Amino acid sequence: MLDADLDPIAARAALEWLIELGVDAAVGDDPVDAYALPDHLAVPKPAAAAAPQPVAEPQVDPVGVARAAAAAARTLDDLREAIAAFDHCELKKGARNTVFSDGNPKARVMIIGEAPGRDEDLQGKPFVGRAGQLLDRMFGAIGLARQSPAPEQAFYITNVLPWRPPGNRDPEPAEIAMLLPFLARHVALADPDFLVLMGNAACAAALGQRGILRLRGTWAEAFGRPALPMTHPAYLLRQPHAKREAWADLLSLRGRLG
Ligand code: URA
Repeated sequence: MLDADLDPIAARAALEWLIELGVDAAVGDDPVDAYALPDHLAVPKPAAAAAPQPVAEPQVDPVGVARAAAAAARTLDDLREAIAAFDHCELKKGARNTVFSDGNPKARVMIIGEAPGRDEDLQGKPFVGRAGQLLDRMFGAIGLARQSPAPEQAFYITNVLPWRPPGNRDPEPAEIAMLLPFLARHVALADPDFLVLMGNAACAAALGQRGILRLRGTWAEAFGRPALPMTHPAYLLRQPHAKREAWADLLSLRGRLG
């Protein structure tokens, strides 16, 4: 510390002596923050930290997911697994089983129904309840059985929806659209010669049309192959008089099969 009363010559000599000793910085009594900016240069602090913004969930397009999963399936077993792994349809949460198909996958005839009911949901197979028993008798009458090993005497069967709608309500258009890529792939992989569209939901999915009582009995084209709309066996159980027309439709199919 230099004495404040030193004359300039003595002060200079003292300073030179201190430099000689290796002193290279002047230190005062109070600590100095060499990094602190003068007030007029200080950067203002942000008023308050901004509240964290919620991170938006990425938007999922369920139809796109279904399309990609269906396209990736190379076999019917792949497709069964892809459907069982598909988590974007609410119906799956209320279902006991994913109902994929039954019958002979090599059959010339593939039947498309609506959706599993209670019995189908319990057993994991399509058309095993009362409507299914009637369906077996109807197709049996033209020589087709689901378990027949011969493709020309067999049928293969699936539904538009693989999960039971609550209380057996009708499938909603959005549900049909979401699961349609799986149905289209199912038909492509099974590659039947003829499709039978059982009821309105099957016609909505395969033809984009409703009005089964008008459509039934008239051959159309669906998924690139001949398709015959027919009244659903559950309807025939309620309206037995409609069995006559259903019989005519079965004979039309029999005629095509040769
Ligand atoms: N009705 C359908 O459409 N499908 C079934 O599997 C059972 C009943």
